[in-house]
Amino acid sequence: MVKRTGLLFAFLVMVSTGAYAQKRSDIVVEDFEGTDYGGWTATGTAFGSGPAQGVLPGQMAVTGFHGHGLVNSFNGGDGSTGTLTSPEFKIERKFLAFLIGGGRHPGTTCINLLVEGKVARTISGPNDRPGGSERLDWRAWDVSDLDGQMARIEIVDRETGGWGHINVDDITQTDENPVEEIKTSTLYAETYRPQFHFTSNKNWLNDPNGLVFFKGEYHLFFQHNPAGIDWGNMTWGHAVSNDLMHWKQLPNALTPDALGTMFSGSAVVDWHNTSGFQAAGSKTPPLVAIYTAAGGTSPESKGQPFTQCIAYSNDEGRTWTKYASNPVVKHVAGENRDPKVIWFAPTKSWIMALYLDGAQFAFYSSPNLKEWTQIQKMDVPGTSECPDFFPLTVSGRPGIEKWVWTAANGHYLVGAFDGHKFTPETDLRQVDFGGNYYAVQSYSDIPEKDGRRIQIAWMTGGSYPQMPFNQQMSIPCTLTLRETADGLRLFREPVAEISKLHAASRTWNNQTVSPGDNPLHDLKGDLWDIQAEFEPGAATQVGLTVRGEAIVYDVAKKTLTCLGHTAPLELEGGKLKLRILADRTTLEVFGNAGRVSLTSCFLPRPKDQSLALHIEGGKAKLLHLTATPLRSIWPTADLGTK
Ligand code: FRU
Repeated sequence: MVKRTGLLFAFLVMVSTGAYAQKRSDIVVEDFEGTDYGGWTATGTAFGSGPAQGVLPGQMAVTGFHGHGLVNSFNGGDGSTGTLTSPEFKIERKFLAFLIGGGRHPGTTCINLLVEGKVARTISGPNDRPGGSERLDWRAWDVSDLDGQMARIEIVDRETGGWGHINVDDITQTDENPVEEIKTSTLYAETYRPQFHFTSNKNWLNDPNGLVFFKGEYHLFFQHNPAGIDWGNMTWGHAVSNDLMHWKQLPNALTPDALGTMFSGSAVVDWHNTSGFQAAGSKTPPLVAIYTAAGGTSPESKGQPFTQCIAYSNDEGRTWTKYASNPVVKHVAGENRDPKVIWFAPTKSWIMALYLDGAQFAFYSSPNLKEWTQIQKMDVPGTSECPDFFPLTVSGRPGIEKWVWTAANGHYLVGAFDGHKFTPETDLRQVDFGGNYYAVQSYSDIPEKDGRRIQIAWMTGGSYPQMPFNQQMSIPCTLTLRETADGLRLFREPVAEISKLHAASRTWNNQTVSPGDNPLHDLKGDLWDIQAEFEPGAATQVGLTVRGEAIVYDVAKKTLTCLGHTAPLELEGGKLKLRILADRTTLEVFGNAGRVSLTSCFLPRPKDQSLALHIEGGKAKLLHLTATPLRSIWPTADLGTK
């Protein structure tokens, strides 16, 4: 009896909650795929005469829209204004969802829902300060209270200053809120928490700092705002790892003082105790951090200039003591900053690469990390901030060593260094072409028997809606210097340790693939290491689509494109090698074994976990493809793949 009542109760609950009701399909109000606005009415000039096909002249890369067209009121730049109003339609679903990007100026760059001519709902874009991102993300209004009413959509651009434009796409009536899926509850298991990239547990992060290997630990210090989700209060956060994959965040290492907040810098092991910081009686060399005190960036450092300072640790980086006679390099120019230090054994000197101002950099030399002499100034147009400087042996040419100088954007020079002068022997070169690769730094003190030069970048500019943290690091990459038809080039590939995260993979070999073929159709997931090799043959484009974002090699153009950014790349022997690392918020693409890379942030719909081949124009040969799901590095998180 009890049982029967229970079943009847369950049945009634299911009926009343609609579990047996047929799912109503979405109604597309407008996807802006036409050449004009159809029945919509445009006023002013900002919206042009029809949907934009992506980016408009003078605009940063626009991403996140679907198909080819979108509303983009940057027509004529930020200064232009206008409105775009839809025909009347009936509200027939629970939610009105759309993709939106552009300026955050409530009321003047916004999308409005008009009912009886009045604004019933309104929302603005995400950006209100210089920088930011032109990406469109899902937003939705619950319109169940307006069911059956007639309405119009009005897209407004009445703003003429910075971020004076609005981007909209895919306005859809739906019973399923695409935004609702964001989980924020469990630390490290949040919807947009990268699962195999370092993020700070909470709050803002930017540049990797003080990358140093000591006693089996990779230290990752980082620019951190312990008190806020945006940049500020610069402090050195700290994490350690035994394998460059699994990170443990430790207490902050360097906190602001009267000389300034703690801007970027480096760290070294002072093996010969040149600094004298080694603890009395100890055999363990000190770690020394060389950092910028950014004077004037906090109330307590008001009026102070930017200077370079040092701090040391005798307990494997757990606690740090600032040198009593800081600064060690007084103010030189502008907001001089970001010292990167390396030991140069032939002259028993420390060499510091320092950013000065504009596009100007300098080199300094020191016997003891405390007294520094400027040895060279160098202008490198097209770069600024965060220099790095290190030797690399040319691959396959034992004994041929070159020096590589990189700037924050990763652009690099290759040349010679004799302890007194760096002589560039190449023009300025670029290995990464993605939209989110910045403030690169390489590890100091990797043991000689390992011999790698390992680099981490800040994946600047990613967006992490509703997350407790902001920004992330790139996957650590091994840099190699190789001879190519274009001379010496840096190659960049994920460190081998990523294989520690590999789950069981699926492999395909030697298949002829045509447009529309998708051997990967039954794979679902959000964490991937995919390695593929194509022979394009008759195809005009080959590549993959990961969670809705196409990674495309264009055979005629000889380009590899991902998320609106493009790298030049030649086929090698008629073949293309592609490696793709996909995390919840990033795609890192490597072409032809690291000849180029595209380090990019994205924000896919959490529900879209699809993988597909991208083949266009004719048949291609898929020589090889291995799709390997990756395991999360965070102990509390679910494996992202399903
Ligand atoms: C690069 C940078 C550095 C500076 C730091 C401040 O992103 O601007 O030049 O030291 O960030 O957070």
